[in-house]
Amino acid sequence: MEGEGECSDNPFTSVITLTKMRVPHVPQRYVLPPSQRPNLTLDLTTTLPIIDLSTLHHASQRSLTLDTIQGACKELGFFQVVNHGIPLPVIHDALAAATEFFNLSLEEKMTLLSDNVHNPVRYGTSLNHASDKVHYWRDFIKHYSHPISDWIHLWPSNPPSYKDKMGNYAKAVQVLHKQLMEAILEALGLNFGNLQKEIEEGNQLMAINCYPACPEPDLTLGMPPHSDYGTLTVLLQSGPGLQLQDNKKKWLSVPFVEGALLVQLGDQIEVMSNGQYKSVVHQVTLSAENKRLSIASLHSLPINKKIGPAPELVDEQHPVSYNEFSFRDFLDYISSNDIADKRFIDSIKKSV
Ligand code: OGA
Ligand code: NI
Repeated sequence: MEGEGECSDNPFTSVITLTKMRVPHVPQRYVLPPSQRPNLTLDLTTTLPIIDLSTLHHASQRSLTLDTIQGACKELGFFQVVNHGIPLPVIHDALAAATEFFNLSLEEKMTLLSDNVHNPVRYGTSLNHASDKVHYWRDFIKHYSHPISDWIHLWPSNPPSYKDKMGNYAKAVQVLHKQLMEAILEALGLNFGNLQKEIEEGNQLMAINCYPACPEPDLTLGMPPHSDYGTLTVLLQSGPGLQLQDNKKKWLSVPFVEGALLVQLGDQIEVMSNGQYKSVVHQVTLSAENKRLSIASLHSLPINKKIGPAPELVDEQHPVSYNEFSFRDFLDYISSNDIADKRFIDSIKKSV
């Protein structure tokens, strides 16, 4: 496996290890310049949209719900969903599998260590421990998850229940993602049928993140501001910590709603919609007392599929605003660019 750390600029140190050592201060490499530090005193924003997905199945309520989805996609690129069809025990099992994985010995987790973003399964810390200039207070395991039979044999074999528990959740989220895409494309006025096959054959990357309690949460972040590259990200979290930017670039703090899932639009939807919908910029803040887990399921169209603005959404008043890109183009970009410095989507915007 590549990226065992021997040719890295930075040695590998997991933040779980730092928390276990009870370091009184964050090491210097985690300290952000003052202008990039989070505001931890934001009130939880109670006005963020929460959508009851069961209403999509009722003809009389569907169009109202699609209007709400459209409003959320235009203004925020974000909404929460309830009655999403994934049973609570499946959600709890996935979080339990994540907890047990991060509780394994460092030695065991290190067998999956990789700084190569093209690897289908990799354990790591920060964004990329080998190249990050500033480090972020996060450990993670990421794995491709769809179609599950192509990848599950590569997933952690410890804890022994990991594949079952995470696999059940992965399959359920893949189904939910398809329903959400159907609704979002319908709200955009696009024909889901034209894209159905590519949505079904698309890529699902799960990022299982652990943000241990941090001695100085006002100096650092768990993840820097970024948007996700794909169509949608479905995020499950164990507690509060996520902040997102509204269309006036104001940070909002996302409340924790038990059993709810967060839906974030990614760059592929922004491009497909020719800018009508926006991918949401988000960051992760930390707590001095509590560990936080999250499971981000990042969906995209097939890895080599180039996505450009939908022709139906282009006319004289709305010229093509983005160049095409594929998930593979994004991976190549992050192999040699720091997304904490420049957003990927800014690199494909056409200059006007
Ligand atoms: C991500 C991400 C947010 C979180 O993995 O891309 O933004 O709350 N995660 O962990
Ligand atoms: Ni993200």
